[in-house]
Amino acid sequence: TEPLRVALAGLGTVGAGVIRLIDTNGALIARRAGRPIEVIAVSARDRSKDRGIDMNRFAWVDDPTELARQAGADVVVELIGGSDGPALALARATLGAGKSFVTANKAMIAHHGLELARAAEGANLALKFEAAVAGGVPVIKGLREGAAANEISRVYGILNGTCNFILSKMEAEGRDFADILSEAQRLGFAEADPSFDIDGVDAAHKLSILASLAFGTRPAFDDVTITGIRHVIAADIAEAASLGYRVRLLGIADAGAGGLFQRVHPHLVPESHPLAHVTGSTNAVVAEGNFVGRLLFQGAGAGDGPTASAVVADLIDIARGEFGPPYAMPADALAAQPASDSGER
Ligand code: NDP
Ligand code: HSE
Repeated sequence: TEPLRVALAGLGTVGAGVIRLIDTNGALIARRAGRPIEVIAVSARDRSKDRGIDMNRFAWVDDPTELARQAGADVVVELIGGSDGPALALARATLGAGKSFVTANKAMIAHHGLELARAAEGANLALKFEAAVAGGVPVIKGLREGAAANEISRVYGILNGTCNFILSKMEAEGRDFADILSEAQRLGFAEADPSFDIDGVDAAHKLSILASLAFGTRPAFDDVTITGIRHVIAADIAEAASLGYRVRLLGIADAGAGGLFQRVHPHLVPESHPLAHVTGSTNAVVAEGNFVGRLLFQGAGAGDGPTASAVVADLIDIARGEFGPPYAMPADALAAQPASDSGER
């Protein structure tokens, strides 16, 4: 059987993780996907960097956009990051060249997801972004497929591993904010610009993607009200604890009578709530559906292995030929529903 041939842009935390995962689990993946998944070409900034992986087996391309035209590649995986720039150029070029596209880039999907979905659907290609929200936790599949028969009233949760790592370590170990942020950066959780994490922007990117899937509305990052954790101090956490609460950065999207309300802010979570017990870089998402009831998706929200797991799950779907519209409905129907009005209700 013909392998699914992959061109991979970005060889950092997640990109190197994808190669290691395919190297380790390749035989199992081939059995499950019905054919092997094979990386054939790669691109990053620095060809000479030691990544702990033998890169000589892959064709090297200096300009990642060229991967869109890589001979023999069926699908391009983008793990560079950034809402525009080389990531967006590569997405447009890939779909324009008739190849499917997989990304972990929530910033790009939050800003350009609808445009890319239209391009993918128009050409009957896959656009997949499971890793963009909650790392290894299959919450995109959960909402798009598992909960597809439900009217959803609310989706909320812990969407940023770096912030949860900082808040839960400040709580448990009384350590300094900056010191814990440095540890999160060393572990590969933080964004290239960590202000995206601590100022709540990354969580807002993810919330806007979840809200669009849950409510069938146009993705609307600009409508999210955002407050990050930069100003949370140890005394706030201690005061909350004395009252029976934990401080967590939550993203919350509610479909009420007045329309959809999306917000990200530090929240006092009562100790009796499951989200109060989510620590470290773990993410957890709650969705409330009218037939399924309350769903809780929880697991590793960042890091090389979990994020690579979600990227390769998308590749397996493509290898099986199992993909439909990138969102829970065709992009044109999504575009017709403004986020301020939950549309389907
Ligand atoms: P890294 O910073 O670790 O890696 C980025 C990679 O992109 C590097 O290999 C870098 O090259 C390459 N790169 C950067 N700019 C260019 C360019 N102009 N041309 C070619 N290559 C370039 O990022 P991550 O792996 O952490 O993140 C990748 C994506 O995954 C981002 O969208 C991020 O938001 C997302 N993500 C990350 C998670 C995580 O836990 N880290 C979890 C979920 C999603 P070089 O190595 O040579 O410098
Ligand atoms: N910087 C992100 C986080 C990576 O800390 O959650 C996972 O999307």
